Amino acid sequence: MLKEIHEQPDALRSTIMPRINNENLPDFTMDHIPNHIFKSINRVVITACGTAMHAGMVGRVMIERLLRIPVAVEIASEFRYQDPVLDENTLVITISQSGETADTLAALRLAKENNATVLSIVNVKGSSIARESDYVLYTQAGPEIAVASTKAYTAQLSCLYLIAYQFALTRGLLSVKECGDRILKFQKVIQAVEEVLSFDRYMDKIGMDLAKTEDLFFIGRGLDYALSCEGSIKLKEISYIHSEAYAAGELKHGTLSLIVEDTPVVALATQQKVFSKMISNVREVRARGAKVILITNGNPTVDQSIYDYHIALPQLEDELVVFSAAVILQLLAYYTSLYRGLNIDQPRNLAKSVTVE
Ligand code: M6R
Repeated sequence: MLKEIHEQPDALRSTIMPRINNENLPDFTMDHIPNHIFKSINRVVITACGTAMHAGMVGRVMIERLLRIPVAVEIASEFRYQDPVLDENTLVITISQSGETADTLAALRLAKENNATVLSIVNVKGSSIARESDYVLYTQAGPEIAVASTKAYTAQLSCLYLIAYQFALTRGLLSVKECGDRILKFQKVIQAVEEVLSFDRYMDKIGMDLAKTEDLFFIGRGLDYALSCEGSIKLKEISYIHSEAYAAGELKHGTLSLIVEDTPVVALATQQKVFSKMISNVREVRARGAKVILITNGNPTVDQSIYDYHIALPQLEDELVVFSAAVILQLLAYYTSLYRGLNIDQPRNLAKSVTVE
């Protein structure tokens, strides 16, 4: 897992760079994805399982923000039994590292039966999901062996960002200049990921501290909430620590009662728009004695008394910081599990690819 975490700059480079043309615009020519599929649809449904579904949650924010069309994110095992509303104007995006996840494959088949267009983001070439989709955008993450998905996740995110930019360009919601400017900034995520890999030592120290805990919470708003879900699954699958992700605004609606002296809370506060709200939430948990691990975009001035650990990510546009933040959450899970003496690459009861229901 650690090796795969460290392979992320290369995985991102190989996924992103061949899909950017000389004018700094997204280009899916090599994937044979025609622009008309972005023109004719009025709704997007993203469906996947586990970490891939969490990538979809980030994709939803990006596509809705840029396109102003509704995007639903559905857990594939729910979607397939829900009689979903689908038609020829729906673009269904399935996401899967293995391309063999049974529920995601079933969701894809259902989408096709209902005449939706299916575009899949897949890592394994020639896998069932890749073969059955109308269009495929391959993540170029290379083989991912550890059960916990790391480099496939950030590569999936990068595909979703490229789709959102291409979609917005095709529909005239971004001008050529605006799209080019965004793509230039977008490429900086690779360097940011490289930078945070050197935070290893600090994450090791936090992991050693967290290894003693049995319950942990992740909180965030917007993109940070989507990331919280991913941070939580990563930690629980390899460290066996009970963890939950909460939209920070939900704390008052029940979760605060679970926060007692020394309960660890990972607070993601990378989004300027809701930064002060997040800091208020951190104060709320701190007042109940929480051990706070605060993650911010850059190094904003924050009262030091509200956290135990502070991770200041390389400053980027708010919408781009998910990449480096995800890597920090992976390192957090990795080191916590390491200090619990567990089999990190093959956690109990879990398989890399879930090919049965
Ligand atoms: O191969 P897939 O991406 O379709 O797998 C989906 C999930 O089983 C997978 O992401 C799982 O949640 C990971 N082990 C999480 O790290």
